[in-house]
Amino acid sequence: MATYPGKFIVLDGPEGAGKTTQVERLVHRLRRDGRQATAVRDPGSTPVSERIRDILLDKRLPDMDARTEVFLYMASRAEMVARIIRPALEVGLVVVCDRFVSSTVAYQGAAGGVDTALIWELGRIACAGLEPDLTVILDLDVEAGLARRERERPRDRIESKQRAYHEKVRRGFLAMARERPQEFAVVDASRPLDEVARDIEEAVARVLR
Ligand code: TMP
Repeated sequence: MATYPGKFIVLDGPEGAGKTTQVERLVHRLRRDGRQATAVRDPGSTPVSERIRDILLDKRLPDMDARTEVFLYMASRAEMVARIIRPALEVGLVVVCDRFVSSTVAYQGAAGGVDTALIWELGRIACAGLEPDLTVILDLDVEAGLARRERERPRDRIESKQRAYHEKVRRGFLAMARERPQEFAVVDASRPLDEVARDIEEAVARVLR
């Protein structure tokens, strides 16, 4: 894999783990420490990727095949990498991304039944070899996560899937972190926001050194 002056950090995990809040906090913290940092969300962040996101999360399309989902997520990602992430890494930014290929492996792979090795490979193709320097998994009990989400807004197409699906998602994330400990960190997201943020910052600091 090519190396860049910047660093690519992903926050990922099951529903309602507080990723979006923690992405914002991390970027804020990095900037306070004098680093140039930017936040992106997957799928999304470019005009094309946001349009793909609308299709993926549309409740009027409940029966999408898991392979179709894989290719749509990867298409969104190809665009994000080409337009935003790689150019930002080339000029030395820290890019903090809300979800990435790890989500497709957990949702469409571990829970949806698509071969996970194939998804990792498709990820390499879509991202032209770009991989995160670190993926932090914010781990949370499934019921607690879905309940937290529901207090914020109604469930979208993927959140509406069965509880068993989300249990497989969670186990999928934990399995990949166990298999690739150099590239992943797991943080217990059931604790107060400040404690979770501190653990994320510690994991990220090891990569930025
Ligand atoms: P969000 O929770 O980050 O807004 O993500 C939107 C939904 O899309 C969420 O239910 C997880 C799902 N998702 C997948 O199923 N596969 C993927 O590859 C990604 C990035 C998200």
